[in-house]
Amino acid sequence: MPLGSTLTMPIQSWFPTSLYVEPLLANGLARFNRELLEQCYLVRDTDPHGVEWSDEHYVNGYTSYGSMTDLHLRYPHFEDLAKAIGRHAQKFARHLDMDLQGGSLRMSSCWVNIMPANTVHSLHLHPLSVISGTYYVKVPKDASSIKFEDPRLSSMMAAPPKLEGMRPRNQQFVTLQPKAGQVALWESWLRHEVPSNRSEEDRISISFNFDWV
Ligand SMILES: [Fe+2]
Repeated sequence: MPLGSTLTMPIQSWFPTSLYVEPLLANGLARFNRELLEQCYLVRDTDPHGVEWSDEHYVNGYTSYGSMTDLHLRYPHFEDLAKAIGRHAQKFARHLDMDLQGGSLRMSSCWVNIMPANTVHSLHLHPLSVISGTYYVKVPKDASSIKFEDPRLSSMMAAPPKLEGMRPRNQQFVTLQPKAGQVALWESWLRHEVPSNRSEEDRISISFNFDWV
């Protein structure tokens, strides 16, 4: 659509960055999540290679990222999770007007993250995928939020800083405080991090990627 035909205001905002947050299931979520929580610890307790990998790469915590990123293909609970998340991913893709051209979005990787106190997940993105996200299994009070960075930040080479009282849409970082049972989705190019967990209890999440196949 040519811009001139829609330009009715002197300033318009374009190129949005979308973040999708919804409860995973409309019904039976508490029970499903309870069972999944047990499965997360079971994965850790039967994954000595992953525990060893985490000692070096995920200090204080455990992630199966270095040992098993196909949990949705290994365990029934994670398979059910992948199916439910897939429905949300389709909804998000429709919101983004993605033309899948006869293909589909398929979960290509899925791994668990257990973050005890003082565990950090540093700034990163998910290259080679289309939609990425996290399902929140356990988010205790005072647990870390997830922080997203304006994807244009590295291009703002000479821009002055933002005013302290800036409008929310001009923020360069957005923080989401998730709740257990929620799934969050974003486009895979969006950089994000999880600051140090300040809760004494474990913060548990399952991360994943969707590819266009
Ligand atoms: Fe991530």
